[in-house]
Amino acid sequence: MCGIFGIITLKPRAIGRDLVAGGKRLSYRGYDSVGCAVISDGKIDLRKDTGKVDEVSKKLNFSEMHGDRGVMQLRWATFGAPSKTNSQPHLDCNGDMVGAHNGNIVNTPQLREQFIREGHKVRSTNDGEICIHAVEKYYDKGYSMVESIRKAYEDLRGDYAFIIFNNKEKKLYAVKKGSGLLIGVGRNEMYCSSDLPSLLPLTKKIIFIKDGEIASLSPKEAKLFRITDGKEIEAKVVKYGENQEYAKKGGYEHFMLKEINEQPVVAEDLVELLDDSKYVDKFLDVVKESNKVFLVGCGSSYHACLLGSYYFGNIAKKTVIPAVAPQFISQYGHTIDDKTCIVLVSQSGETKDVINAMEYAKGKTGRILGVMNVIGSTLMNSSKVYLPLAAGYEVSVPATKTFLNQCVMFLYLAKRMRGESCEDMKKVPSLIKETINSVDDACRKVAAYLERWKELYSLGYGSTYSIAKEAALKIKEITYSHCEGMYSSEFKHGPLSAVRRGYPVLFISSPKDVDVMVSHINEVTCRGGRAIAVAEKSDSIVRNANELVQLPHSGNYISPILATIPAQLIAYYMSIGREINPDFPRNLSKTITVD
Ligand code: M6R
Repeated sequence: MCGIFGIITLKPRAIGRDLVAGGKRLSYRGYDSVGCAVISDGKIDLRKDTGKVDEVSKKLNFSEMHGDRGVMQLRWATFGAPSKTNSQPHLDCNGDMVGAHNGNIVNTPQLREQFIREGHKVRSTNDGEICIHAVEKYYDKGYSMVESIRKAYEDLRGDYAFIIFNNKEKKLYAVKKGSGLLIGVGRNEMYCSSDLPSLLPLTKKIIFIKDGEIASLSPKEAKLFRITDGKEIEAKVVKYGENQEYAKKGGYEHFMLKEINEQPVVAEDLVELLDDSKYVDKFLDVVKESNKVFLVGCGSSYHACLLGSYYFGNIAKKTVIPAVAPQFISQYGHTIDDKTCIVLVSQSGETKDVINAMEYAKGKTGRILGVMNVIGSTLMNSSKVYLPLAAGYEVSVPATKTFLNQCVMFLYLAKRMRGESCEDMKKVPSLIKETINSVDDACRKVAAYLERWKELYSLGYGSTYSIAKEAALKIKEITYSHCEGMYSSEFKHGPLSAVRRGYPVLFISSPKDVDVMVSHINEVTCRGGRAIAVAEKSDSIVRNANELVQLPHSGNYISPILATIPAQLIAYYMSIGREINPDFPRNLSKTITVD
């Protein structure tokens, strides 16, 4: 994860104090090491060490640091072990430039070797340092800072954001590509941070930087440049107090759309967290040593349990039973003993039906595990071992990024339990991003067609059954149309009678199940129904379905996760087409704390 916080002021002052305060507000993002760099009289004062923000800033007296521009970084280690050398910020070769990043530079090993060959003084194995040398390389050739960052952007692969400045120009530069970064506009000061809440105590005037934009900050002015052509673009200031909703939505029309677009980043954060967590093995040890395992949840969380059960069965070869929380006690209560493991799955950690199941199970087994998003929630506190979803705050009532991260979590856990490498999980965030970008037009088109219909079906098979159910729930929740999610092979056992000319049926398929899905598609199309497939491209799908929302190539296990995105976007576009606010659908609440 990591967090960065920068300040530039008109007159030199003890900015260390504000950097520490800003850093503390980002402390949830990293606690392996902390560092602070400020420029005073043209000299860079850099202090850093391993440890948490409170300890390190006290030990190294960050609050006394004086200057007119500076940056603080909190590190969650990925490239390079947590150590003083790998701590950020980093200097360039001569100590004239300094900066810090958050995110991952995935081609760090190659660039590191290249920079060493080119004679750079590379001091650490951390990817943050690579960003500095990547900019320095061009700056030393005479390019401006903005041009140097643009050129570095072409060399750096991965999702990241960084802040960088030098001892010659009174400027702070920042760039965003896939990781959070916002600007706060103060009185004769500018701030730059990884998240919004950390800026709000200093200013309510916010500029949202988009991916592929560079910010050039001086104390009185913020300029934005587009990476693609270097052109200056408008730096729109949003007054948080006056238009709080817009500011909180990060420039998106609705929280739901913002949260859908956050999915690549939160998935990446989750995979990183799981890679580093000692709790994964503890969690899986309990699962392995149990005779019976239940995944218990409600709504979207239950749908993630369905997919989790598929992953555990197919990948880890462990039978895991998905259970809707309110049904759990009546159906399985009598079977629970001290060798039974219950995994509580919930975004909020406060859903009453799940709490009831937990309370019941607590008297019979100590093996209670948790997968939750809200830290400190009731269910998290009641779990022997819990794994956080790391999806950040989800405002919109429809679960999006938390559902997706539940699915990513279960795939990761099943692979780890099987003893398989989880290396390929690292490509999931970029596949999610690719899907968001590539399916948007098709989803708008499908939504426009579906808008005319008051009811439809959403069918899945094998792994995609869970996603078909989730698609149906999303559509019901925010479009007020009925949509039933079911097994595609069950459709012919009754519901097929609904099909007439143009009747819409969504078919969500993984590559593995295309053949069987094509049979089910034909049962609908030969009766005049309209088959809308969500799948990877294949000849038989293209030939047999009326329409295809095409997923990127990813394979059988990742494909259902990617199929979630069209499900969300189709529901979203249907909802706004009907002038419904998808963030707050009627009659519903984000957290259901009643039976
Ligand atoms: O907080 P939880 O995950 O326990 O909530 C469970 C359901 O209420 C929730 O998933 C609900 O179905 C969503 N709003 C659906 O989008």
